Amino acid sequence: MEIDRILLTQEQLQTRIRELGAILSAEYAEKTPVFIGVLRGAVHFFTDLTLQFSHPCQYDFIGAASYGDGTQTSGRVQLTKDVMTELKGRHVVVVEDILDTGLTLRFVTDWLKSKQPASLKLCVLLDKPERRRADITADYIGFTIPNEFVVGYGLDYQELYRNLPYIGVLKP
Ligand code: XMP
Ligand code: MG
Repeated sequence: MEIDRILLTQEQLQTRIRELGAILSAEYAEKTPVFIGVLRGAVHFFTDLTLQFSHPCQYDFIGAASYGDGTQTSGRVQLTKDVMTELKGRHVVVVEDILDTGLTLRFVTDWLKSKQPASLKLCVLLDKPERRRADITADYIGFTIPNEFVVGYGLDYQELYRNLPYIGVLKP
């Protein structure tokens, strides 16, 4: 397996993340939001995005695994790590790498909503709407992409390629 082509360059990613940071900074200026990153794919997006947030905020992380190997999700989602922060009455922004079938984020957002936050919004770097199986939409989207398996910038194929500074498409 290797990279067929680059879908989003490092510069395109950083430009768009600065825009998202500015939007979130305007909307959450007075709210001290809790940014919750979904491990592990969102790690680079989470750090770059939160560095563009210009007001007080908190960080937390949640782990979810949709036990499937390779490029297909199994549909069964399990929590592998819960948040540490008390979320009741807080403004939560879930930060995730990709909204694909939506099964993972449906599960994660339902779990977090049960903790009674004052608000809960979803911010994803990539949206792949063609493959949606769960009823869920993101509030903030970096890029809408076609139905191709992508890697890099946190996203993996069998745990590799996460450290590419761009988003690429794998050779079939
Ligand atoms: P969904 O929305 O299908 O996403 O529940 C579950 C998880 O699958 C991963 N995923 C991808 N990983 N390239 C990847 O490297 C992709 O194109 C892709 N689509 C989904 C991702 O971790 C997501 O959280
Ligand atoms: Mg993920």
